[in-house]
Amino acid sequence: MGRDKKFTRVLLTGGCGFIGTNLLRFILEHRPSWQVVNVDLLTYAGNIENTVDLEKRYPSRYSLVRADIADAQKMEELFSQHGFDLVLNLAAESHVDRSIESSSIFVRTNVLGVQVLLDACIKHQVQRFVQISTDEVYGSLGQDGRFTEDLPMAPNSPYSATKAAADLMVRAYIKTYGLDAVITRCSNNYGPYQFPEKLIPLMVVNASRGRKLPVYGDGKNVRDWIHVEDHCRGIIVVAEKGEPGECYNMGGNAEKENIEIVRMILRHMGKGEELIGYVKDRPGHDFRYAMDFTKISTTLGWRPEIDFEQGIHSTIDWYLSHESWWERILSGEYSRYYERMYGSR
Ligand code: NAD
Ligand code: DAU
Repeated sequence: MGRDKKFTRVLLTGGCGFIGTNLLRFILEHRPSWQVVNVDLLTYAGNIENTVDLEKRYPSRYSLVRADIADAQKMEELFSQHGFDLVLNLAAESHVDRSIESSSIFVRTNVLGVQVLLDACIKHQVQRFVQISTDEVYGSLGQDGRFTEDLPMAPNSPYSATKAAADLMVRAYIKTYGLDAVITRCSNNYGPYQFPEKLIPLMVVNASRGRKLPVYGDGKNVRDWIHVEDHCRGIIVVAEKGEPGECYNMGGNAEKENIEIVRMILRHMGKGEELIGYVKDRPGHDFRYAMDFTKISTTLGWRPEIDFEQGIHSTIDWYLSHESWWERILSGEYSRYYERMYGSR
């Protein structure tokens, strides 16, 4: 195992999104010597409300800059100004269904944005770059097996294709320019602050409003769920201890069919299954994801700790006690997206 790396000046991108918000909170609490600049474009998925308290609680250690990671001039300015020693790249377009509607913004942010950050890291001799990738780059599994890091990438959606392209760019910068970079590939996260277009918050919100719960296809597709806090802890472990140039899988050891998740939500909320509505399947819908995380557990000592049953119940309760948070989101652009996506399905 490599020696722990020490960082003080950290760039975290996408910090107003789901995982970024949770990671920022984790870092500010557990790494008191880190000063963090959050660069977020505040797209539909970036919510300034998620982090506004952090500016008050940590005025000397945390700041937010609204900027596009694909804007090379702006990134140059920020890298010159702050002299970052660690870059954690979470900024992305992240929703598969949106990438099926239109993929150009996915290419811009997820590929061009990464290339801009990589160039800045080389120019400013950043100590380490961490790319937050996804299990979806491996494609889809049948009933058996798990994804290991040595599998070839085989993405099936425009979203996962752009994430795979970014991973290849990172690899190329490692090989060509000797950049110290590491990649994490994690399975489906759940927890607080997830945008309600994603399965779990969408189902909680719909059940709460007495609306149909739209299950794609027969509901038997399988995802491997991990609590976002376990993922955040893993990102920090990889940043500090990961071997340069390596890629690390993370998963939750909690494979569930979508329909099981939906039933758990309804049960926990005391609602009936008549709310379930099967709808037309997602095109190119990956059947199953499951992660083999032997590498990170044997070499870096990380494994998921939050039990799924407990984690999902506390997550549902979080959404139920933060109704005003999601009500504000639902009243904006999202209501038009919902109509486009589900209106005639
Ligand atoms: P999210 O959609 O909730 O948040 C993305 C954030 O990035 C938002 O705050 C958005 O405003 C910001 N952003 C988008 N384009 C930007 C740009 N051009 N410049 C600066 N900021 C921009 O996504 P998430 O679920 O938090 O995912 C974060 C990262 O983790 C992504 O890279 C995603 O691919 C990866 N990932 C997610 C999961 C998951 O289950 N959610 C699992 C594995 C990996
Ligand atoms: O696996 C990691 C990935 O997980 C991340 O890289 C992505 O950024 C993240 O969005 C997520 O992708 P999925 O496509 O797996 O997540 P989503 O919540 O969109 O869907 C989960 C499953 O639920 C999937 O099989 C599709 C299904 N689904 C989803 C929605 C939104 C439904 O049945 N109905 C729905 O309305």
